Amino acid sequence: MKYEFPAGFWWGSAASGPQTEGTIPGDGKGASIWDHWYEQKPELFFNQVGPEDTSYVYNRYKEDIALMKKTGHTTFRTSIQWSRLIPDGVGAVNPEAVAFYNSYIDELLANDIEPFMNLYHFDMPLSLQQKGGWESKEVVDAYADYARICFELFGDRVKKWFTHNEPIVPVEGGYLYQFHYPSVVDMKKAVQVAYHETLASAKAIKIYHEMNLDGQIGIILNLTPSYPRNENDPEDVKAARLADAFFNRSFLDPAIKGTFPEDLVSLLKELDYLPEYTQSELELIKQNTIDILGINYYQPRRIMKKESTERLSDKPMPDDYFDNYIWPERKMNPYRGWEIYEKGIYDCLINVRDNYGNLPCFISENGMGVEGEERYINADGRIEDDYRIEFVQNHLKYVHQALQEGCNVKGYHMWTCMDNWSWTNAYKNRYGFIAVDLADEGKRTIKKSGYWFKEVSDNNGFDA
Ligand code: BG6
Repeated sequence: MKYEFPAGFWWGSAASGPQTEGTIPGDGKGASIWDHWYEQKPELFFNQVGPEDTSYVYNRYKEDIALMKKTGHTTFRTSIQWSRLIPDGVGAVNPEAVAFYNSYIDELLANDIEPFMNLYHFDMPLSLQQKGGWESKEVVDAYADYARICFELFGDRVKKWFTHNEPIVPVEGGYLYQFHYPSVVDMKKAVQVAYHETLASAKAIKIYHEMNLDGQIGIILNLTPSYPRNENDPEDVKAARLADAFFNRSFLDPAIKGTFPEDLVSLLKELDYLPEYTQSELELIKQNTIDILGINYYQPRRIMKKESTERLSDKPMPDDYFDNYIWPERKMNPYRGWEIYEKGIYDCLINVRDNYGNLPCFISENGMGVEGEERYINADGRIEDDYRIEFVQNHLKYVHQALQEGCNVKGYHMWTCMDNWSWTNAYKNRYGFIAVDLADEGKRTIKKSGYWFKEVSDNNGFDA
């Protein structure tokens, strides 16, 4: 069967500034929470590889953009590092950073690759974290200033902006499950942080729209469709619905509808977890919703009613309202340990069509992390990643089906272009179309999947 995509469908990949740029002496970058955490606790990072040792795109972006071209990119998303552009989070702008991002953007455009730019990918400037990070309203205002500066500097050429990548992750990682800095367990603070991220996003959207630039602004959310163990058991269904409220609707609703989910709000009220807010802030959120949604899809959530007595904290946490269970038919990514459920990508798109006004959207991340991928290197030194081709193709079939059924989906971005550093996992899970050999000065080699993707992009589809 031929899977043909609409003309102009975006083919590309996503990455982020903090995961790719590297730290170059004299580049004027300020510290982010990742630099600080690594300095404090290097043992938390896989093989003790820290954020300064990312793929050195800062110096090698021309070479890397040439490789993007060779792998069929028509679009590419990365992020500006707040602490690179404004080393202290507020105040003076770093001229080296302005020159770097200008040149990076211009090089993409010169290669007919449309740059999509995200403003926040987990990388709070350290000086602002010391003021409370997303717990603080002062930081929300600092973010709005930072956003305005980015739009002023680069908004003439960047036409797709995103306020956050996966805003639930700093909430989960930093305030519930301890895999991001500041690594505390405090649900009340978690709710405040989530609310402030949403408020910050709405402020940036307002500024962007008021500037009347020729482009669109959105947010990138990692959606995890929550499937109940037993659809006929109201308790399982209720638990899955609540997991959906905590992890999906908490950001989807305010981003698209400008309101917060009622079931979540009433539970948080009951628990005395409501954040500090004002009516004028709620109005601002209501009036400043997104133009476009980026959907990161990796895996679903399998949910059943709470049966275990295990508690993660003395105070209520999301996990006190449901348990995860293992779906017997699940297919696993043996290299990463995550469930592979391709239909989930379709369910995310149908959800946007049916419950969120069929807003324009795109798949902003999807991909397969593999540990120890060197074992698939062939005699020519190329990684034969047929598993990744199968993974992407199977997901694309469902994106195609969603398109046939009227979903307003504009493109597909793989995570990621080149193998990159990933927070405390560092270089453990490799996701790229292009391998980066750390033992050979970061030498880049296109994997089999990269050549395959070029064909898909050139043909605007594939036969399967
Ligand atoms: C995505 C994030 O959710 O997952 C990326 O946006 C991250 O920043 C990617 O690198 C892969 O994560 P991991 O933990 O498998 O390396």
